[in-house]
Amino acid sequence: MDVLDAIKTRTTTQFFDREKSLSDAEIKELAEFALEAPSSFNLQQTRLIAVTDPQAKERLKAAAWNQPKVADAAATFIILGDLGALDKHPELIERAMRQGVVPEPVGAKMIKGARDYYSVGRQRIHEEAIRSASLAAMNLMLAAHAKGYGCGPMIGFEADKVKAEFNIPDRYVVVLLIAVGYALPGNPARKPRLTVDEALSFNTCGSF
Ligand SMILES: Cc1cc2nc3c(=O)[nH]c(=O)nc-3n(C[C@H](O)[C@H](O)[C@H](O)COP(=O)(O)O)c2cc1C
Repeated sequence: MDVLDAIKTRTTTQFFDREKSLSDAEIKELAEFALEAPSSFNLQQTRLIAVTDPQAKERLKAAAWNQPKVADAAATFIILGDLGALDKHPELIERAMRQGVVPEPVGAKMIKGARDYYSVGRQRIHEEAIRSASLAAMNLMLAAHAKGYGCGPMIGFEADKVKAEFNIPDRYVVVLLIAVGYALPGNPARKPRLTVDEALSFNTCGSF
């Protein structure tokens, strides 16, 4: 399936086959696709916890409004945004410079640029962590769909409970949960979208 088909045919899976699992290799492959996403200044804030153990999935479900798919899916990913990503940024940029992918003056500018941009405070750091991790989450869902799995994003969870249950330090914001596994027959049909004319304008903000 190419990416255009994946975009057009992905839907949120509600009902998963509890009997079918994903191997660690399959889960790692999905995480790799997630990590290919862009991030501001290449900060790469996204972190993932793959919850596959049946008891752990039940604990996650309890922190996620008891949504059945959290435990029914083969794996539910906890998508995190690293609020402390600036600490690792110089190392990441230096890695790219060593590989010759980023010229040294550009790399130095990126490191300083990120530091300056984020010096205004925690809200911006928080927003950018969510923004970047959300793009990674979409990559993960498109990859999952393209590989024939069902998947479903969730904001229906209590972040404090998720953090407590899975030993997640305050350095991380819980961005989304994504259930991934094998879809059962009878899942909801694809919902209609706004038309382009309802949602796109050219050169100025339309009367949406
Ligand atoms: C940020 C976000 C949070 C969502 N949270 C939930 C959720 O907690 N539970 C759920 O069943 N669906 C959740 N959804 C799925 C949406 O309901 C779904 O994407 C939307 O209805 C469009 O349907 P589709 O994904 O099948 O195209 C969420 C989607 C997004 C993007």
